[in-house]
Amino acid sequence: MSVLPNFELYDLKPAVADFRREVLAGLAASPRCIAPKFFYDAEGSRLFDAITRQPEYYPTRTEIGLLRAHGAEIAKRLGRHAALIELGSGSDVKIRSVLDVLRPAEYLPLDISLTHLRDSATGIARDYPQIRVRATCVDYTREFPLPPIAPEAHRVVFYPGSSVGNFEPTDVRDLLRWVAGMVGPGGRLLIGVDLKKDPARLNAAYNDAAGVTAAFNRNVLVRMLKELRAQLSVDDFVHHAFYNAALGRIEMHLRAQRATRIEIAGQAFDFAKGEGIHTENSYKYSEEAFGALAAGVGFVTEQVWCDADRLFSVQCLRVAA
Ligand code: AVI
Repeated sequence: MSVLPNFELYDLKPAVADFRREVLAGLAASPRCIAPKFFYDAEGSRLFDAITRQPEYYPTRTEIGLLRAHGAEIAKRLGRHAALIELGSGSDVKIRSVLDVLRPAEYLPLDISLTHLRDSATGIARDYPQIRVRATCVDYTREFPLPPIAPEAHRVVFYPGSSVGNFEPTDVRDLLRWVAGMVGPGGRLLIGVDLKKDPARLNAAYNDAAGVTAAFNRNVLVRMLKELRAQLSVDDFVHHAFYNAALGRIEMHLRAQRATRIEIAGQAFDFAKGEGIHTENSYKYSEEAFGALAAGVGFVTEQVWCDADRLFSVQCLRVAA
C-alpha cells in the first residue's frame, strides 16, 4: 500500500506462464525469435538506463535536449492540466522535463517492469505532490483496462525514446490506432522518433564499447534461467547487432558461438554454431515516412522538432477530428 496520498499502483504484470508460452513459441519458430518486451525485468531496465548513458547511444540525450529546448512550445501545443499517459515509462529525466512544462493534473505511466515503474513513479509522486500519479504495470502491446481518469481531463499520450521503432510497421498502425482511441478526436500524442542516418553511427549506438547493450541483449537468457528454470549457457551466445539498410532497421540477435542447446519445460532446442535468436528490431524512419504512417491511421502531424544533426525527432501528432 502506498503511503503517498497522490500515488496508486495497478499491477497487471504479465504472468510467468505468458513469458514461457511466448519463449517456447519463439524458439520453435523459424527464424527463432523472442520479443524485445522480455528484456525488461528489473535488471533489464537497469541495463537499459545504463545504455542511455553510453557515449555511442545518442537517442536519449538528443531527445532530452529537444524536450528541454522546446518545452514552452510543447506545452502550448499540448495544453496544461492534462491527464498525461506515458507508454513504457522510461527515463526519469525525460518525464520530469515534460511534467515541469506541462504541469498535468494526472500522470499515468504504463510499463512492463514492475520495480522500475514503482521506483520511478513513486519518486514522481513524492516530488510532484500536486499531480495524481496512477501507475500501471502492464504489457501495453495487448488490450488492458486503463485506470480511471477524471472525465473532464483532456488526455495526452507521451511515447518517448523511439520505442515505436521496436514495433513492426503493421503493428505500429494498430498501436497508433489504439492511442488515437485513447485520446479521442482532437487529442494529441507527443512521440520520440529516431531518424534514418549514417549506418556507422547506428551500428556504434547498438554496439557500445563498454558492452552494455550486449549485456542487455543477453539478459533475456538470464531471465529464462531464473524465471523459466531453463537449461542453457548464457556464455554460448554473443550479442550481434547491425543495421539492415534494406529494411531500415537495427537488428539484434543472440548468436550461438558454438553448438549448444536450450531446454525449457521438457522441450529442447538445438543450435548449430552461428545460429541465432532474433531479439529486437529498431526501425529508423524518415520524417516523411513516419508522417505518412501516422496520417494513414488518422493523425495530423502538427509539429516536428529535430536536433541540428537531424539524428532524432520529437513530434506532436493530433487525431484528426
Ligand atoms: C527502447 N528502445 C527504443 C531501444 C532502441 O533503441 O530500440 C532499445 C535498445 N535496444 C538496444 N539498445 C537500446
